[in-house]
Amino acid sequence: MIVYATRTGNVRYIVSQLTTDAIELTADLQVDVRYLLITYTDGLGNIPAKVEQFMKHNHNLCQGVVVSGNSNFGHHVFGGAGDKLSQMYHIPLVRKLDLRGNQKDYDAIQSFYESRVKG
Ligand SMILES: Cc1cc2nc3c(=O)[nH]c(=O)nc-3n(C[C@H](O)[C@H](O)[C@H](O)COP(=O)(O)O)c2cc1C
Repeated sequence: MIVYATRTGNVRYIVSQLTTDAIELTADLQVDVRYLLITYTDGLGNIPAKVEQFMKHNHNLCQGVVVSGNSNFGHHVFGGAGDKLSQMYHIPLVRKLDLRGNQKDYDAIQSFYESRVKG
């Protein structure tokens, strides 16, 4: 399962390039299967509030995080939500994508999903 958060649609597009079950996250969603989290970055390298709330009660089944950001924000905050979530919950940062990313990113995510999340 993929659980994702999107505001302007880039993450939804990324998910559409993958062959997996996917569900859009809400702050109070409860997930009971292993999943990969895909999120965007907010503020200055921050975790979106709804993702922060969701992870408080669902982090134990999260196998990894993929983040989308905008590299124009600069190296220190680019995709910062992914760095923060990875550190907070000791989960691998699978991939950092610039906006919608590219086919190489989708292949890497799909491969991680098949080997570490599915099943
Ligand atoms: C208000 C605002 C703040 C943002 N802050 C950051 C940031 O600090 N770092 C970053 O890498 N991207 C930042 N972004 C870019 C988004 O994370 C990026 O466009 C992402 O692809 C959006 O995904 P979505 O279309 O699924 O919502 C910001 C975007 C907005 C609108």
